[in-house]
Amino acid sequence: MTEPWKLHDKTFVKYMSERKIQAGVKKLAARLNLEYQGKKPLFVVVLNGSFIFASDLLKRISIDCEIAFVKVSSYKGVNSTGKIEEVIGLDIPVEGRHVVLVEDIVDSGLTIVKLIDKIKALKAFDVKVAACLLKPEAYKMDYPIDYVCFRIPNDFVVGYGLDYDGLGRNSADIYKISE
Ligand code: IMP
Repeated sequence: MTEPWKLHDKTFVKYMSERKIQAGVKKLAARLNLEYQGKKPLFVVVLNGSFIFASDLLKRISIDCEIAFVKVSSYKGVNSTGKIEEVIGLDIPVEGRHVVLVEDIVDSGLTIVKLIDKIKALKAFDVKVAACLLKPEAYKMDYPIDYVCFRIPNDFVVGYGLDYDGLGRNSADIYKISE
């Protein structure tokens, strides 16, 4: 993308290169391969934003695993609305399973924690989160986010699957909003 990247009314500058992202994803996959060896985890990919991260991460998972996809919606524009709408599409039984939720970004944590609660209620053996990005300053929940590629400041970012009102998902690099 040519910089600055203009999306709707805002401009974005490059923040994290494809190379750096891929190194982080590779490291996380290696950890998951070790820690889930023999557990046949169920990776639940939280759409839409996670599609690129999930693809890169799961290509590097070499142990037996299953993959499912769910969709929730909670974000409009640059501020979290704090509401989780419906969870659509969880069509694999989770009872007794080691579930790993695959998320693009954890911000306030409202979305992921509500999803965790729903999956726990379905009697999963355990539920953990693998997130590409975590904003520690924004995260308000007690539930530990076990697997994170990168901790980032509280800036709005796009690219690598993340969007600003529909635009910006199609970049291998991550951009952040410029003041
Ligand atoms: P949370 O419920 O506040 O943790 O927000 C989670 C969801 O909001 C993520 O799955 C993203 O879809 C979206 N989101 C949070 N922060 C950003 C950002 O910086 N850029 C784009 N989307 C974001």
